[in-house]
Amino acid sequence: MRKLRTVVSKDLTKLASIHAASFKKNWGQDAFAKLLEQTSNAAWLIEEDDEIAAFIVVMSSGDDLEILTIATHPDHRRKGLAKQLLLGVDGKQALGLDGNWFLEVSEENLSAVQFYENLGFLKRGVRKNYYKLDDGRRVDALVYGIKLGHLVC
Ligand SMILES: CC(C)(COP(=O)(O)OP(=O)(O)OC[C@H]1O[C@@H](n2cnc3c(N)ncnc32)[C@H](O)[C@@H]1OP(=O)(O)O)[C@@H](O)C(=O)NCCC(=O)NCCS
Repeated sequence: MRKLRTVVSKDLTKLASIHAASFKKNWGQDAFAKLLEQTSNAAWLIEEDDEIAAFIVVMSSGDDLEILTIATHPDHRRKGLAKQLLLGVDGKQALGLDGNWFLEVSEENLSAVQFYENLGFLKRGVRKNYYKLDDGRRVDALVYGIKLGHLVC
């Protein structure tokens, strides 16, 4: 059974481990704690059979929402979890707001680009050489956006 709920402090170890399994530059538990101390930030997760399987951290700025990070545990990918999470948060957060979702994604993160484009996100710009990789290479960040409440199901 799946359950979407707000992240609480006892979840942070698991969030950090999913993040570590999902990104080369991972954030530790303390980084998540600091992020969530800020009142502009909020996080949700999905449990699958009582196990935390995916999460999202969002920053609000005026009427806009920025995706700071989103990840699904590698064992749970392509089961619709991240989509369900984003649609669920969109349903909760878009109420009363007239803004947009925004996010930055590496041009080399093809699965995430596909994920966002299939949800209806449109490319709004490029930040040249935004990410520095371990081998010293720099890659562009693509900026995507979509109006709140307009994600494609
Ligand atoms: C991107 C990510 C969050 C997607 O999570 P997920 O739970 O596997 O995604 P979903 O199952 O909800 O996918 C929904 C749709 O997105 C698209 N999609 C997701 N992953 C994809 C992939 N690897 N390749 C192509 N399309 C993909 C598909 O259209 C998919 O629907 P389908 O499976 O019916 O074809 C996950 O791959 C991940 O955690 N990646 C590492 C962290 C990351 O890059 N986060 C984004 C940073 S900006």
